[in-house]
Amino acid sequence: MSKLVVMDHPLIAHKITMLRDENTCVKDFRELLNEIALLMGYEATKDLSLSDMSVKTPICETVGKVITKQVALVPILRAGLGMVDALMSLIPAAKVGHVGLYRDPETHKPVEYYCKLPTDIEQRQVLVLDPMLATGGSASAAIDFIKKRGAKKIKLMCIIAAPEGVAVIQKNHPDVDIYVAALDEKLNENCYIVPGLGDAGDRLFGTL
Ligand code: PRP
Ligand code: URA
Repeated sequence: MSKLVVMDHPLIAHKITMLRDENTCVKDFRELLNEIALLMGYEATKDLSLSDMSVKTPICETVGKVITKQVALVPILRAGLGMVDALMSLIPAAKVGHVGLYRDPETHKPVEYYCKLPTDIEQRQVLVLDPMLATGGSASAAIDFIKKRGAKKIKLMCIIAAPEGVAVIQKNHPDVDIYVAALDEKLNENCYIVPGLGDAGDRLFGTL
C-alpha cells in the first residue's frame, strides 16, 4: 500500500488555517498556497537520488552532491497550477506537464479535456500537484494518464485531502505515495471536503 505523509509543522498548520478562512482574498490565497507547497516540497523531495560531483570552491577542490533523477511536475488544471511556482523554485530543471480535468457538477466524476506531458516522462520522478483530494476521482484519472505514458515513479502532492480520496488512490495506485498538508474529516453531500476550503480553483483564480 502507498504511504500517506501528513505534514506536521507549525508553519504549515498556521498557513492552512489562513487558507481555509473564507475572508482570505485571492492574492493572499495564492501566496499561501505557494508557501505551503514550498514547505511541502522539502518533504516530498527528501528521497531524490544523488550522485557525486566535483566542485572547486575558492579554497580547494571537493566533492559535492547533485540530484540525478530528473523531475516532472504535473499540475491538474486548474487549481494545481497554484503549486507549480513553488516546486519550480526548488527544482528549476524540472519539466512541467499538464493534465486538464474537471469534475462534472452532477456526477462528480472527472472529465478530461487536456493532457500534455514531457516526452521523457518514463525516466522522471513525477510529482502530481492538486490542492484538493476529495473523492480522488480526478487524481486517480490523472495518474492513469501519466502511467499510460510510461511513468513509473509517481508521487501525489495535495494541500487538503479527505479520507475517501486517500482510500481511492491507495486502492487504485498502491505504488503512489501521497503527501498532504492536512487530512480533513469527510466529504459533504456535494463531494466537497469538510471543513476544507471550498472550491480551490475558484478561490485561486477569483472565479467565485
Ligand atoms: C477540483 C480540485 C481537484 C478536484 C478534486 O477541481 O482541484 O482537481 O476538484 O475533486 P475529486 O477528488 O473529487 O476529483 P475542479 O474539478 O473543481 O476543477 P478546477 O480546478 O478547474 O476548478
Ligand atoms: N474540489 C475543490 O476545489 N474543493 C473540494 O472541497 C472538493 C473538490
